[in-house]
Amino acid sequence: MCGISAYIGKENNAAEIVFNMLSRLEYRGYDSAGIAYVKEGKQDKIFVVKDKGMVEDVKKQYTPEHSDLCIGHTRWATHGESSKINAHPHLDCKQEIAVVHNGIIENYVSLKEILEEKGHKFISATDSEVLSHLIEEFYNKDDVLNLEEAIRQAIALLRGSYGIAVISSKEEKIVAARLGSPIIIGIGKDEDEYFISSDTNALLPYTNSTIPLNDGEIAILTKNDYKIINKDALPVQKKIEKILHDLQSAEKGEYAHYMLKEIFEQPRVINETMRGRLRLEEGIAKLGGVRMKKEEIRNINRIVFIACGTSLHAGMLGKYLMEEIARIPTEVEYASEFKYKFPVIDKGTLVIAISQSGETADTIASLREAKERGANTLGIVNVVGSTIAREAEKGVYVYAGPEIGVASTKAFTAQITALYLLSMYFGRIRNTISGFALRELVEEFARIPGKVSKILDDADVIKDIADEFYNYGDFLYLGRGYNFPIALEGALKLKEISYIHAEGYPAGEMKHGPIAMIDENFPTMAILVKDNVYNKIMSNVEEIKARHGRFIAIITEGDEEVKKILKGDDKNKVISVPKTHPLFYPFLTVVPLQLFAYFCALKLGRNVDKPRNLAKSVTVE
Ligand code: M6R
Repeated sequence: MCGISAYIGKENNAAEIVFNMLSRLEYRGYDSAGIAYVKEGKQDKIFVVKDKGMVEDVKKQYTPEHSDLCIGHTRWATHGESSKINAHPHLDCKQEIAVVHNGIIENYVSLKEILEEKGHKFISATDSEVLSHLIEEFYNKDDVLNLEEAIRQAIALLRGSYGIAVISSKEEKIVAARLGSPIIIGIGKDEDEYFISSDTNALLPYTNSTIPLNDGEIAILTKNDYKIINKDALPVQKKIEKILHDLQSAEKGEYAHYMLKEIFEQPRVINETMRGRLRLEEGIAKLGGVRMKKEEIRNINRIVFIACGTSLHAGMLGKYLMEEIARIPTEVEYASEFKYKFPVIDKGTLVIAISQSGETADTIASLREAKERGANTLGIVNVVGSTIAREAEKGVYVYAGPEIGVASTKAFTAQITALYLLSMYFGRIRNTISGFALRELVEEFARIPGKVSKILDDADVIKDIADEFYNYGDFLYLGRGYNFPIALEGALKLKEISYIHAEGYPAGEMKHGPIAMIDENFPTMAILVKDNVYNKIMSNVEEIKARHGRFIAIITEGDEEVKKILKGDDKNKVISVPKTHPLFYPFLTVVPLQLFAYFCALKLGRNVDKPRNLAKSVTVE
């Protein structure tokens, strides 16, 4: 949510570098964009280019000129509408200080009042502008120019969260600070240039050496050096971390959209997440990062998954898996609720935070709450080195690689891969699954990537169905058991990128209310695969048919019974997926739903990768 980038160094096109970095961060927010820079030889003035709209549009307003330091921002509006005035960077009264900010300053109203009383003039409706004026208050006090000291004093007064980058026209440096919103420093290859970014994707074209800041740390970057200090101004020694993925993995390549590329990457991503963990010869699953003694695993008396959005749906599936395979009572909590509901935690509670980005503010806040209440914590995270990856005591990385499309797809299949592995691992140690049954699961699990590939090969069938259904205003998504979370996920995908209203429901609940909505204008997407609830959902489909509702059914290939129902009926459609063990259908049912959402959005001319009002990582609570 909001992307920050900055550059200082030997190149005299800092502004262009920052614009390029911003375009790689745009999936974090795209309401408005802007940069602030100091021209070479004109160190006494800050130049700002900012406006409403996408980075590439704002860049058109910039005339290239020599600059060797620059900060930039791409915004997801929280306080104040999307407009030129509310776009970052924000300046102080003297126009000597420029600030870009990610996060929310919760006490901005009271700070603004104090600053206004002191004569500061505010021009935007944002909480962020308070920062530039507050820093101005502490800057140049007693004739000592020290930007980092002014920032250190200013941030001590803030409540809320921030990742900031700040420049002054009086000093050749960039200062960054973090509390709750990610800031990563990139170290140039020859240590003669430095970068700042909200995540590693923007750094990839320039460097793979990074230093993620921790909360409370301040980084001071000059052209040929950097220093990190803590809130007491004491130096902090930090290790340089390498970005493990390459530039290509964060590019769209031959695909029309990142989302499509990411959907098609899923067979590989499932394989990568399984690699070394699914042991075919031994018929077991093993997870090194869990670092729990057998006794500890046997003593888990309850699991609580905390997550948001798509990751929450992965957790919901995780609950079914943990309860069936490992026989551990499991709950799933919206991370945004968990922290504020006085959760009951004891030593036997394992709290598992699931997050693609590892930076979702609600999930981080709940993880911290769980730790404070004495829970064991484990993170299932995609982004290496992210806050959740670092703060959870134990961890399982999923190997989805960079996910750029705002609608999460491959991260979901990677997360559920990790959850299958984890429940199988726990089940084996707790002796709640027999060796024979486990071997059967392990063998079928290994076949899943191939089966997903088969669905992707037939993507055109789903495109044709989407071309017929994209014009409806509403959809009901039904699934039961393991496929209930998938119905929720399918409905979320459709809402997010096509803006078609869709509701996911456990199929058995249909008769308790939602059936009232069914008529010829309200189609249903029914997950009707051959598992233990097949007959029940078949009845739901009949009930829909009897009320003249159209439906699309996701069925197991070769299902003759469904075909009988559909005989002579071209109003309703089926999407076939390969046969698998009932436990593994979610991998095969979610992919057609992702494709269906994608093709509907395409047909409606939506911005698939950057849907309106959304941002990739939600770093504010
Ligand atoms: O990075 P996280 O997995 O923590 O993000 C959680 C949600 O914000 C995310 O899944 C969101 O719902 C996506 N837009 C879903 O496509």
